[in-house]
Amino acid sequence: MVERMDWKGVSKWKLDTPCLVVDQDKLEQNIRAMQTHVTRSGKKLRPHAKTHKCSRIAKMQMAEGAVGICVAKVSEAEVLVRSGLKGTLITSPVVTDYKITRLMDCLSLDPELMVVVDNPMNAQKLSDEAEGRGLRLNVLVDLDPGMGRTGFSFGDGPALGQSVHSLPGLRLLGVQCYAGHVQHIASFEERLRTSLGWMEQAAKVVRRFREKGLPCEIFSGSGTGTYEIDNRIPDLTDLQAGSYTMMDAEYLGIGSSENPSRFEKFLPALTLLASVVNANHADHVTVDAGLKALYRDGATPYVLNPAFPDLDYTWRGDEHGQISFPAGSVHFELGQVLELVVSHCDPTVNLFDVLFMTRNDRVTDVWPVDMRGKCM
Ligand SMILES: Cc1ncc(COP(=O)(O)O)c(C=O)c1O
Repeated sequence: MVERMDWKGVSKWKLDTPCLVVDQDKLEQNIRAMQTHVTRSGKKLRPHAKTHKCSRIAKMQMAEGAVGICVAKVSEAEVLVRSGLKGTLITSPVVTDYKITRLMDCLSLDPELMVVVDNPMNAQKLSDEAEGRGLRLNVLVDLDPGMGRTGFSFGDGPALGQSVHSLPGLRLLGVQCYAGHVQHIASFEERLRTSLGWMEQAAKVVRRFREKGLPCEIFSGSGTGTYEIDNRIPDLTDLQAGSYTMMDAEYLGIGSSENPSRFEKFLPALTLLASVVNANHADHVTVDAGLKALYRDGATPYVLNPAFPDLDYTWRGDEHGQISFPAGSVHFELGQVLELVVSHCDPTVNLFDVLFMTRNDRVTDVWPVDMRGKCM
């Protein structure tokens, strides 16, 4: 049996499939490009790790200048706290008893840990738990930009801020407003108008906080789709973009400030390798990557390598995918490896234990996706 570390130095085309490959040059370029852009606009970067789920990549982002890392779940925060990262922000509300206990355990290891709150009763409960342990939990009030998912209304945000501020176990640090429904709007102009509309409303809440004398040193939000839009909001202090590290077909297919139909500011650092397991047909082959390897969401994955035109991927069940082409136009060998840009990076990464890191198509290292499966 071949151990994982034996893959070091091997050509990526020899890897066992399906597997995820990360081009380190592209990853570094993406991390640097976002950090440079954010710093130049006078903001801070608090990147979201829900995309890569890998503490080593989170550390690369911190080394490049990020002020902290965002996670979606307490179980992800546990990994980062254990890995020594400080000041992680949990961007979803933590409401159940068991999770609150785990949150407090994390807080006892990292007093800079932060969580969002969008409900007064939840705020009270978190305060009671923190106070009971002699701790103080850092809190951002989460504002709902019309998504109806999480967050509190803009109108009532300052009142929630006031009650958080009055609770002895909590330390109010500001607000979060993440407009997830705006990030993939295809037209850049429409995305710009929509995002600025929501973020300006959130900024008004921030100003209300300040008028009321409430602490608001952090106004955190934004994502990869609106990173060069939301930085125009003067009150926004930090950006939470995540997908820019890896990229996927969904993001690459939206319009950008330069190109109405492509978004190529960031490179597809993440790809999936799949092998041809059946080549018995003139117009398609079957590959070994289906629903369990390629999350079915967002856009359709596309074949990057070999760069033949008219290759279309479709899911053919749990274990298989189909690459279709005009009959007789292409010949694939059995066992031939294809490289695909994934549909949606976050849930696809969550399907794998490791990332094969490469430079010039050779494996340099194998990094664990150590927040993989941390959905609690
Ligand atoms: C709260 C929050 N912030 C930031 C992000 C990162 O957004 P993106 O991956 O579009 O950059 C997400 C992604 O879902 C999110 O839920």
